[in-house]
Amino acid sequence: MYLTREEEEILAGEEGESSQKAMELIVALGKIYGADDLVDITSAHLSGASYKTIGDGGLKYLEDMVRGGAVVSVPSTLNPIGMDRERWKEMHITPSFAEKQLMIIDLYGKMGVRTTCSCTPYLGENVPSLGDHVAWAESSALSFVNSYIGAKTNREGGPGALAAAILGKTANYGLHIDENRKPAVIIDAEIEGSVFSYSMLGQAVGMAIGGKIPYFRGIDPTVDDAKTMSAAMAASGAVALYHIEGVTPEAGNFDLNGLETIHIGNKELEEAYGKLNTTDDVQLIALGCPHLSPKEMRDIASFLKGKKKRNKDTEIWFCTSARVREECPEEVKIMEEFGPVLADTCMVVAPIEGVFERTGTNSAKAGNYLPTLCSQEVMCRDVSKLMDVVM
Ligand code: F3S
Repeated sequence: MYLTREEEEILAGEEGESSQKAMELIVALGKIYGADDLVDITSAHLSGASYKTIGDGGLKYLEDMVRGGAVVSVPSTLNPIGMDRERWKEMHITPSFAEKQLMIIDLYGKMGVRTTCSCTPYLGENVPSLGDHVAWAESSALSFVNSYIGAKTNREGGPGALAAAILGKTANYGLHIDENRKPAVIIDAEIEGSVFSYSMLGQAVGMAIGGKIPYFRGIDPTVDDAKTMSAAMAASGAVALYHIEGVTPEAGNFDLNGLETIHIGNKELEEAYGKLNTTDDVQLIALGCPHLSPKEMRDIASFLKGKKKRNKDTEIWFCTSARVREECPEEVKIMEEFGPVLADTCMVVAPIEGVFERTGTNSAKAGNYLPTLCSQEVMCRDVSKLMDVVM
């Protein structure tokens, strides 16, 4: 693998211990995946921010990085953490968890990372451009920026994305290479077009193709539709890039001759729905996976306006970014009649296990992870059907 003289010097430790560690990791990844060289990146998005997911080992790793002088060299944002920074008591979070979580945020801040803590930074805080090389972790977000925007990133893990953010470079392999961005299968999709139907479509496609690159025909998603579909496909399969005929910027670049076509319609959507629904009775309804956009906030608020929450035993959480919460004061007021509008966190990375056993969501991604990461039985339905439980 070719390294410039400057990159060799970093690897030799001449720029300090943290940069050396970062370069060692990026070079090791590059060797494993057959990179010829490194490529400059314009931004990073880091996962590994919740104390629940990284634990004391992760906290210590971050402390070591800060002690070694680590600072990011490109604009870098952070994924959701395990709690709302101010309203953690409403989430049944213990003081000891809160203390460790705030230490993690502080450490990322010391490294120059913007601690906005959202999985939808592409809606405002961190927006790549077509053709940009970036290093993003968070499977839903990286799939969105690869596909809908046409930036180029691999499916980074937390430490790899942090190392790339420090160096401003990553190993040049996988989806950074145009040749590897070709579709592998055509999806002939037939859905009714609601956000929830896009979530089920993503679930069905991920189940059908695993980690291949799909080329969609028959759909015209909005940003919100693409956001939920990206998350679902990344969770039920390992899709990091997709193309949509007439919609995504690279879709016209490829020869589709000879590709297999898979039809996804009612039957497949019902199978996806069946897989995600394991209970009819929930203690928590959590919306906002990925984090709610301003339009989703408006839609939910207008659905709830004038209604009453009758079932007081079921809690409702709305998860979004701090920016969107601030932008939507009228919507927040209506939604708060039903439950807290939480910023910086989500139902999956918060420690809800032990507090709840059965959770409702409208997100296929959350539907996949709530059982495995949070020990929950799941109800996965669209917003109006979920709200039937409490009205
Ligand atoms: Fe975001 Fe949490 Fe879902 S990080 S994509 S809301 S699992």
